[in-house]
Formats: sequence, C-alpha cells, structure tokens
Amino acid sequence: MDERLERMRELDSRYVMQTYRRLPVAFVRGEGTRLWDSEGREYLDMVAGLGVTVLGHCHPAVTEAVCSQAGRLLHTTNLYYVEPQAELAELLVRNCFDGRCFFANSGAEANEGALKLARRYHFNKGKPRNKVVGALGSFHGRTLATMSATGQPTKWEPFAPVVPGFDHVPLNDVEALKRSIDEETAAAIIEPILGEGGVHPASDEFLSAAREACDAADAVLIFDEVQSGMGRTGTFFAFEPSGVKPDVVTMAKGLANGIPAAAFIAAGKFGEVLSPGDHGTTFGGGFLACAAACATLKTLIEQDVAGNAARMGLLLRKRLEELERLPVVTGVRGRGLMLAVQLDRDAARDAVLGCLERGVLVNDVSPSAVRMLPPLVLSEEEALHGAGVLEEVLAGLGD
Ligand SMILES: Cc1ncc(COP(=O)(O)O)c(C=O)c1O
Repeated sequence: MDERLERMRELDSRYVMQTYRRLPVAFVRGEGTRLWDSEGREYLDMVAGLGVTVLGHCHPAVTEAVCSQAGRLLHTTNLYYVEPQAELAELLVRNCFDGRCFFANSGAEANEGALKLARRYHFNKGKPRNKVVGALGSFHGRTLATMSATGQPTKWEPFAPVVPGFDHVPLNDVEALKRSIDEETAAAIIEPILGEGGVHPASDEFLSAAREACDAADAVLIFDEVQSGMGRTGTFFAFEPSGVKPDVVTMAKGLANGIPAAAFIAAGKFGEVLSPGDHGTTFGGGFLACAAACATLKTLIEQDVAGNAARMGLLLRKRLEELERLPVVTGVRGRGLMLAVQLDRDAARDAVLGCLERGVLVNDVSPSAVRMLPPLVLSEEEALHGAGVLEEVLAGLGD
C-alpha cells in the first residue's frame, strides 16, 4: 500500500467515527467515467459516487459554473433573493416537474421537508394527520423521520422509538397498499425503483394504486426520486413511464453532479402549503449548489443524457443477462443505468473487491447483490468492459 493511502487510513481510523466499511483505496482525481487512485491507477467508475456524478467527474460545464460562482459570491442565506436558485427553480419546473420548489442539501432533508409538507397540508385543512405509508425495503434517509419512513427495521431498531405513524407494506402488494391508505393517512412515500433496498422496481400497478388510494383518502403522494431521478433510468424521473404523477417529488444525488444539493417540488395546491416560518435551511438553495445544479440540468437536457442512459442501460442489461449462465448469478434487475445482479450467495463484497483489483468500481448494495450506477454519459465500450470484468470475477467464484 502506498504511503499516502496508509496515512489516510491511519488518520481515519484514529479520528473519524467508524461508520463506513471503506474499501482499501483513495481516489485523488477524476475525469468523465474515470477515476485515478493515490498510486496513479485508473478505474472505470460504475458507482458514480452512489449515483451522484451523472455527467461524469469534473464535467467542464459544472467545473466552470462552480469556479466562476466561487469567485463571485458563496453565501448570503435565504433572507435575500438568490439568483441561481430562482433560475434553477425555473429550469426544474419548466423541464422536469410542474410545481413549486424548496431547495435543501441532501436526500434525507428533501424527504423530511416533503413529509412536513404532508402534515402541514392536513393541519391547514383543520384535521391533522400523521400516518405515512411506505414500502418494505425502501430507503429514505438517516434523519429521525426519514429513518422511520425507511422500510428496513435494521436501520431504525437501534434508534427506537421511531417517529410515530409510519407503516410499511410489501413492495408491489397492491391489496396491502390499498388497505393501509385510509382517511387517517397523511401521505404515501414511494421510491419508483428501490435503490438502497437492492434495486427493486415498483410495478406500474403499485404506483397507480398508490395514486388512486391517495386521491380517495386525500393523502399526499410523494415519490422519492433521490436515487432514480435526474435521468438515471432513461427518463428524467423513473415514475414517468408509469404515467402516474405524484403530488410531491424529491431529488438530490445527481442534481448538482457532486456538489450537495437537493429539492422537493410540490404540484398545484401542494406548492402553496408551506408559508414563511414553516420550513427553512441556512445552506439549502445556496449560490454554489444552485450554479452547479443549473449547469448540470442544462447539460442533461441539451445533450439528452437520459436518452443515453436508456440506450446504454438496455445494452448493459442485455450483457449482464448473459451472466445468468454462471451458476452464481440468479437474475438481473433495474432500469436504465440503475441495475443490480443478484447472486445465489453472499459474495457481493468479493465481487466488488475482484472488480476493484481489475480497475472497475461496482457496489455491493446487499451482501448478495452487485449494483451498477455509472455516470449517465457511459459509452458502449465502457458498458461492455464493465460487464465483462464483472463476468470474469463472478466466473472465478466457482459453483
Ligand atoms: C431513495 C433515497 N432517498 C433518500 C436518500 C438519502 O439521501 P442522502 O444520503 O443525500 O441524505 C437516499 C440515499 O441513498 C436514497 O437512495
């Protein structure tokens, strides 16, 4: 191991809370789909900072926007108008989802805000509600409310008691969903494709049933597109092919291509729910994040990056499906460039390490599933190379 990495490990182990099981590598430079480690070794990045660097590392338009904004003005707060924030809101509303935006700094914060909006909607109507329905296996964040919304008890059990009111139904169990949404329900929160839960798509029927049940109960339908949004699945939001529209959509990860930025957008009357004093943030909607997000969004739209994600996603998926002939692979799932390969055993970490050794980054989203979330600018050659390396590694795992 090189000295630079050794020193980082030493400092990290002594001074940083040990909440991550880090891989034995540190990246010091990136460009497009490539990263270079502290020893100068090059990697194909099929993780993209967990779905963040949608345009690839150090995209020139984002770098230019960040550098020029940093030289002009970094912070004034939401006490005053913020030009790039207003421009970002217009871009999002005109191109992605009609409504009003609130800007935050992380996916958890965007979801937290959306959940607050749902409670406030019912409070405004004179009948407060706090029941929220979600899917088992979902992931919505690490704050107390978003952790409670998360349909994975291991994430919240050690921190109980959770925020009250959250109920979870099995993903794609339409009947259970319909039963659980009633006149007491404030909101339903759903990832159109479960990300951290292992890349499990919600069916169109499940999303439609959520829409119908929320309409019938006057509950707020929230789609969490923190991971699946920004073009990753081949359309700007993953819910689009279903034809089902939420009342509130949340986004983060890819919004500013690596600068922390998040938003929730509320449609129609839901955009009028929150009033001065109801919700706020010191940093959210700041100059740097919004300048980076404007540059990211303009590039995504002008270059039809989602279209590339759709094409490369099909190609990559087809190639990954060929891996199903290996005894260790039991299936491939996901859409666009949000894909997972299911293994028959808990060997995903070994696969990640094997790929790392061969210069390709993939992620063990669960002990038995390997996830790929590459930059959406991935080329055909890179998609085939990444899949080929994973095949070689999985073939080496034996029967
Ligand atoms: C669907 C989804 N929602 C929310 C979050 C939380 O986002 P953050 O880590 O930015 O708070 C994540 C993070 O992985 C996510 O995938």
